[in-house]
Amino acid sequence: MAIFIRRLEEHDEVAGFNCGDDPLNHYLQRHAWTNQQKMSIGVSYVAVDDVAPHAVLGYFTLAMASVPRDAFPKKYVRGLPPYDLPLILLARLAVDQRFAGRGIGHALISEAFRISLRVADEVGCRAIVTDAYRDRLAWYARYGFVPVEGGAPTGPQRMFLDLRTVREAFRR
Ligand SMILES: CC(C)(COP(=O)(O)OP(=O)(O)OC[C@H]1O[C@@H](n2cnc3c(N)ncnc32)[C@H](O)[C@@H]1OP(=O)(O)O)[C@@H](O)C(=O)NCCC(=O)NCCS
Repeated sequence: MAIFIRRLEEHDEVAGFNCGDDPLNHYLQRHAWTNQQKMSIGVSYVAVDDVAPHAVLGYFTLAMASVPRDAFPKKYVRGLPPYDLPLILLARLAVDQRFAGRGIGHALISEAFRISLRVADEVGCRAIVTDAYRDRLAWYARYGFVPVEGGAPTGPQRMFLDLRTVREAFRR
């Protein structure tokens, strides 16, 4: 089975998608297409295979964001001017439970990095951030995301990854 990652299309089969998390299922099923096509506030990318090319196995959503520089630990923003930092928000990422543990999450986040690097070549943007579920922190940490301290003690944890680190990793 060959996996492809491409932009979400209107007639993709999302109704049966189940990653085990209702808000992430609901977003794909109810909002992802509208937010992409009508609202222009988030673009979703889906993993599909060559056997059933419209059945969504996993997805992620990207949007632009900007965050006050002081929201980040000093060591990550040292030397930057006192402007809001332009960023890419990895707004959602999920894999259908039936396909978990097969590297689809890895393929999705790798594609999110490739897209982010292309964007950062054209438009100033320094980092990727995501608001990670606490039981997924270790999964994101594998890719170099670090927690941004100082947020709420419960709920999702904001994590930060400098795009220069990603670029360096891809170069190697
Ligand atoms: C997190 C998620 C995207 C991973 O997708 P996946 O396709 O199963 O991941 P991969 O197959 O690429 O990677 C699996 C690897 O990650 C590891 N892993 C899985 N969950 C982990 C966790 N919570 N912490 C650390 N490692 C984890 C597995 O042990 C496996 O390790 P291995 O490569 O050494 O065997 C998927 O579990 C998911 O969609 N979960 C529900 C939704 C969710 O939590 N999304 C994230 C929102 S912040």
